[in-house]
Amino acid sequence: MANPSLLILPGDGIGPEVMAEVKRVIGWLGEKRGLAFDVSEDAVGGAAYEKYGVPLDDSTMAKAQAVDAVLLGAVGGPKYDTLDFALKPERGLLRLRKEMDLYANLRPAQCFDALADFSSLKRDVVAGLDILIVRELTSGVYFGEPRGIFTEGGERVGINTQRYTESQIERVARSAFELARKRAKKVTSVEKANVMESGILWREVVTRIRDAEYPDIELGHMYADNCAMQLVRAPKQFDVILTDNLFGDILSDCAAMLTGSLGMLPSASLGAPMANGRPKAMYEPVHGSAPDIAGQGKANPIATILSFAMALRYSYDLGDEATRIETAIEKVLADGVRTADLMGPEGGTPVTTSGMGDAILAALDASL
Ligand code: NAD
Ligand code: IPM
Ligand code: MN
Repeated sequence: MANPSLLILPGDGIGPEVMAEVKRVIGWLGEKRGLAFDVSEDAVGGAAYEKYGVPLDDSTMAKAQAVDAVLLGAVGGPKYDTLDFALKPERGLLRLRKEMDLYANLRPAQCFDALADFSSLKRDVVAGLDILIVRELTSGVYFGEPRGIFTEGGERVGINTQRYTESQIERVARSAFELARKRAKKVTSVEKANVMESGILWREVVTRIRDAEYPDIELGHMYADNCAMQLVRAPKQFDVILTDNLFGDILSDCAAMLTGSLGMLPSASLGAPMANGRPKAMYEPVHGSAPDIAGQGKANPIATILSFAMALRYSYDLGDEATRIETAIEKVLADGVRTADLMGPEGGTPVTTSGMGDAILAALDASL
């Protein structure tokens, strides 16, 4: 049988730096665990603009559609700010999500015990935190029509449209309820039904799916602004948060800080099952290309390594190996190994991006 396939798209800024550490982990799995992957690599974002003249070439899109999973670093950077809208790096990422129809974006936020004192919140508020944000990823205001900048009555007007169909809400709601079944069986659905019709429909559809198909799951509803506040006040009240594309983007950056750093948060973007029974999938850290620290060896590679661990679990049926990697990371953090973003007043051993990779590989070796 052919080896499982993986397309790596490092992207821009710190993307290639953190991806280099994932490649070492993949090499380790091959060497020490006999797990070979058919790995290919291509460009996305600004790197693709430089290579192909567009933020995602059709040939790359075709490769992404054909593999078992895609692993993406990050896209964007000030260098590309003045490009035409259609050529911006972010358009490449959004095209991948849309054309692969990756409607369920899983963004788990877990607070490793070793980082509980490092969070900007009190230890008691975050210690033991384990929440999962399920963000709708293919619709909403990111993709709704009409959109654009138009001239109206002698001045310009910028327009984006929040748009959700019932079936789009149904499928991501089912993803959230299925995931909740394997966790604490509690879903909080987040919208602004007080001011948005799309929010009213969202709430109605989510409630109908729960009542008809998931009566065992506890369902609550919350307005997005209150959810942002509750995430900071008492985040452990949540198990699964189900929300739309834009609210999910904002709330997941907020949740990242509950874990200590944006450099810790992985994600899986999942679509419909493929012929192999596994979902179409792309894995990516929640953070961006971090232009302020790019090229300095300061980036924390953990979010991207944890994203690859999610790929092992959801795309390759290698949950034990995913757990092995997660445990190795937990150990490294407990040993006080710290990239700059994790360095607090309590100190620790400062390491560079590749130093963190070294420590994780050593912990993996020790796990054998
Ligand atoms: P960002 O996530 O790149 O950075 C925000 C802050 O977090 C910065 O101070 C950065 O140094 C820090 N940070 C992020 N990741 C880190 C890591 N792994 N280790 C240590 N520190 C880390 O967000 P931004 O600055 O608003 O955006 C920069 C660019 O990235 C923009 O072009 C934006 O569109 C893009 N972006 C891309 C993605 C993606 O590719 N998925 C996600 C978010 C932002
Ligand atoms: C993310 C990013 C993206 C988003 C951008 C870069 C398109 O912020 O993945 O969180 O807004 O979805
Ligand atoms: Mn974001």
